[in-house]
Amino acid sequence: TGGMGYIGSHTSVALIEAGYQVVVLDNLDNSSEKVLTGIESITGQTPHFAHTDLRDVDAVLEVFNEYPITSVIHTAGLKSVEESVTNPSKYYENNIGSTITLVKAMQTAGVSTLVFSSSATVYSSSSKPPFDENAKTFPTNPYGMSKYIIEQIMADLALADSKWRLGILRYFNPVGAHPSGKIGESPSGVPNNLMPYLMQVAIGKLEKLPIYGDDYETPDGTCIRDYVHVVDLARGHLAALEFLENKNGVHFWNLGTGKGTSVLELVKEVEKVIEKPIPIEMKQRRKGDIPIVFADVAKASSQLSWQAKYSIEKMCADHWKWQKHYSDSRQ
Ligand code: NAD
Ligand code: UD1
Repeated sequence: TGGMGYIGSHTSVALIEAGYQVVVLDNLDNSSEKVLTGIESITGQTPHFAHTDLRDVDAVLEVFNEYPITSVIHTAGLKSVEESVTNPSKYYENNIGSTITLVKAMQTAGVSTLVFSSSATVYSSSSKPPFDENAKTFPTNPYGMSKYIIEQIMADLALADSKWRLGILRYFNPVGAHPSGKIGESPSGVPNNLMPYLMQVAIGKLEKLPIYGDDYETPDGTCIRDYVHVVDLARGHLAALEFLENKNGVHFWNLGTGKGTSVLELVKEVEKVIEKPIPIEMKQRRKGDIPIVFADVAKASSQLSWQAKYSIEKMCADHWKWQKHYSDSRQ
């Protein structure tokens, strides 16, 4: 689900390259059918595509009837923290509602393996980094709460019926793009997240990067995050699927690099890639930001044999390649 989106499209590529047959279900709310061309030109194969809203139980059941589906990777969802604060019911209705529909359809179709896109945003700001999977959870906005509630629903399903095989992936900060530059993130409007904003300044679409706070207790005063290459994340979904072949119950994994990078360090990395300075403007702290977030990735490493391979330089270089391709294709 959500296979036309940023993380879903890269996961589709990884699945096809590993020999899986992929069926993408997406309502194209935040993506476009052009992504199929990108996937096709990378892999030589076009995934089956169902232009379906996940909240429509009959339509979802039709997809299960049409294809011999064995496992579901559920990346469909709305993801703007800001929008979730102004329109919480939209987030609860779409993210939780669609997951419940999906679970019902899976039960009817007899499919019990599900990998879900959760987020590091479920962790409480009172926890000390690095966050391991047992760190205290306490989301502070409706988007994060929708992820948290879905995690709880999945845990309850596993308690109620031991046949479920459920993997919950808590992504840290996904960035980068496929190294071909043929698929990547296509934010609509002015981006809220750092990397897409930086890239739009780099390409000249936005004038300067606002830096939200340089007075944090960090070495350079700016916030630290665990950026992870989207192609590494995509591999993480395959590793989770393989793990679930032999294990039932519910399992949680952080997907990050375990390393922190500050806002200013990321700006410097992008400057190296584009070989020119990025105009910046120091601003007040952004409400709700935590100074330092990075993952403890030991569990994914030991249980899934998964580790992020790509460096911050590679994340910036691949994101930039996509940004140029994307901007060119829109002219
Ligand atoms: P995205 O918006 O690029 O992709 C999500 C896809 O889901 C889109 O193609 C959209 O059209 C589709 N979708 C949304 N609601 C749907 C519905 N009701 N029915 C069918 N399709 C629907 O987002 P992404 O960055 O690829 O994120 C994928 C998942 O990972 C989301 O659940 C998101 O919350 C989660 N996540 C993302 C990040 C991030 O920074 N990108 C971080 C942590 C977690
Ligand atoms: C945000 C979301 C989180 C979500 C994640 C997805 C919030 C509070 N959290 O996390 O729920 O899972 O995106 O990637 O929105 N920054 C700037 N200038 C900008 C944009 C960001 O200085 O123009 C700074 C922020 O203050 C932050 C850092 O860059 O310190 C990273 O921000 P962002 O990319 O939005 O990610 P998170 O805040 O970690």
